[in-house]
Amino acid sequence: MSLIFRPLFEKESSTYTYLLADSKTKEAIIIDAVSDTKQRDIGLIEELGLNLKYIIETHVHADHITSSCPLKAQFTQAQIVLSEASLVACADVLIKDGECLKFGEFTLTALATPGHTNGCMSYVVGDKVFTGDALLIRSCGRCDFQEGSADKLFDSIQKIFTLPDETYVYPAHDYGGRTVSSIWEEKAFNEMIGGNVDKQEFVRRVNAMVLSLPAKIHVAVPSNQVCGARIMINKP
Ligand SMILES: [Fe+2]
Repeated sequence: MSLIFRPLFEKESSTYTYLLADSKTKEAIIIDAVSDTKQRDIGLIEELGLNLKYIIETHVHADHITSSCPLKAQFTQAQIVLSEASLVACADVLIKDGECLKFGEFTLTALATPGHTNGCMSYVVGDKVFTGDALLIRSCGRCDFQEGSADKLFDSIQKIFTLPDETYVYPAHDYGGRTVSSIWEEKAFNEMIGGNVDKQEFVRRVNAMVLSLPAKIHVAVPSNQVCGARIMINKP
């Protein structure tokens, strides 16, 4: 038994998509697949002969449109997974904190990490944690829309930091070309929360972030609330 693990990148939104599978049973999962790169992802899944079991989102994204529904149309046995707190009606599985999903011999465990959005979920598979936009490499997700809360994000990152130091950290985005970190590295060097920053200072730093709204937010959020199904967007 071994794990097939393919990190994939979508360059317009700097999003990482992660494909994981059991090499023996060929059961696979995909985390945070993006509409713009769905043909690449479908091609890889078919090339490797994988049986896609779960299409998983870390949260309802604001910066890109998911390919959950198109992937499900292609791989009809697959189930779409989002957190129960994400308040979407399009998921087949509304996962809760601590719940597990199996693919082959591997287990994915959900870790509720609200703060960037209220429905953010991180996922642990063996020595890897997929942190979505809760914990980024040297940074963290913004908290200024989609029910964001810096207070909750502090507690969520502390929860992620209870994983073993050697755990690899795979975020949903990186804007500087970095691909992976570790719990140890982020505890020590994360610029928002590393070095035992307290909650008050963390909240101050998050609230001081100066960021423009994601260009696609008004299209991406409603589209992702229906898992990327084709919808009509009303023009303002
Ligand atoms: Fe996000």
